[in-house]
Amino acid sequence: MKDNRFLTMGIESSCDETAISIVADGREILSNVISSQINIFINYGGVVPEIASRNHLENINWVMDEALKKAGVTLDDIDLIGVTYGPGLEGALLMGVAHAKAVAFSKDIPLVGVHHIMGHISANYLEHKELEPPFMALVTSGGHTEICDIRSYTDCEIIGTTRDDAIGEAFDKVARVLALGYPGGPKVDRLAREGNPDAINFKRVYLEKGTFDFSFSGIKTQVLNYVNTEKQAGREIVKADVAASFTQAVMDVLRDKTRDAVKMRHAKKLVLAGGVAANSKLREMLGSLASEMGFELFIPSNILCTDNGAMIASYAYYKYMSDGPDALDLETKTTQDMKKERRK
Ligand code: KG4
Ligand code: ZN
Repeated sequence: MKDNRFLTMGIESSCDETAISIVADGREILSNVISSQINIFINYGGVVPEIASRNHLENINWVMDEALKKAGVTLDDIDLIGVTYGPGLEGALLMGVAHAKAVAFSKDIPLVGVHHIMGHISANYLEHKELEPPFMALVTSGGHTEICDIRSYTDCEIIGTTRDDAIGEAFDKVARVLALGYPGGPKVDRLAREGNPDAINFKRVYLEKGTFDFSFSGIKTQVLNYVNTEKQAGREIVKADVAASFTQAVMDVLRDKTRDAVKMRHAKKLVLAGGVAANSKLREMLGSLASEMGFELFIPSNILCTDNGAMIASYAYYKYMSDGPDALDLETKTTQDMKKERRK
């Protein structure tokens, strides 16, 4: 029987997850299928773009079938298709977009291209049914560190952004320096809990006064220099202390800039988004900041923090309601293409 609600199929393939989800009315997840390539890339120590694209191509049909089956619907029930068109790996994005276009064309379903980061932020709508804009968002992912003022579902002003390495990238690189393996973020997170955050005084990088931009490439180099110096001096490296001290240095910068941004915009709500939102120290730190400043804090559960199709479906729903469908000549955009674009 046809579900009376508005059903969106969300497709995500910007990196190493082939993910498709069916979401009702932009808020309720009916299915959320994620095929991760992590086990393949463990052997390479990171994502290999060509292999990721090939795997998306191999997986995307069964992932879609599974998502429809789990939701108890068929393509005839789908009212809208949302797909990540960027930023991300070019070849990987292409697989999702080509699939979305083919299905949209053959079944005559409207199509909406979704900015990956707007998807991450929208994960919060799925988790917190009462959440509505306006709010501030702290985006912490593999490719982005941003503070955004979300004025409406489709209006996002970027107040601060990444100048070099994003926070997730810094976590992954520190994991590599400490030979913890891939994926690095969760490993540094776990190890940091056993270490002393005051053991090593890594410099906190705030950039020029008043800016909300972030720079995390320096701290990665500091960690590398520290490890090399200690090795050369024949001293034992306590990896847990390095992980904890690095994490603390990064958290201090995130906390101070978030506090200033919330103050400046008199924000009543703060939303956390992106893969690094799974970090336990980050969650704790923002919890304390929320109590101190009196804002309401929204964080998605771990499964909705990392890449998934549900967050793409949620944003696609609101974008479609506001701006209508995109044309079928929708093109992919890489990180470089999208840097200076106003976010929609
Ligand atoms: O948002 P995401 O899935 O991908 C992008 O859109 O970029 O984020 C992936 C990033 C990776 O850098 C990963 O190491 C990091 O999120 N990450 C974490 C944790 N879980 C994932 N970083 C720190 N602590 C974690 N628990
Ligand atoms: Zn992501």
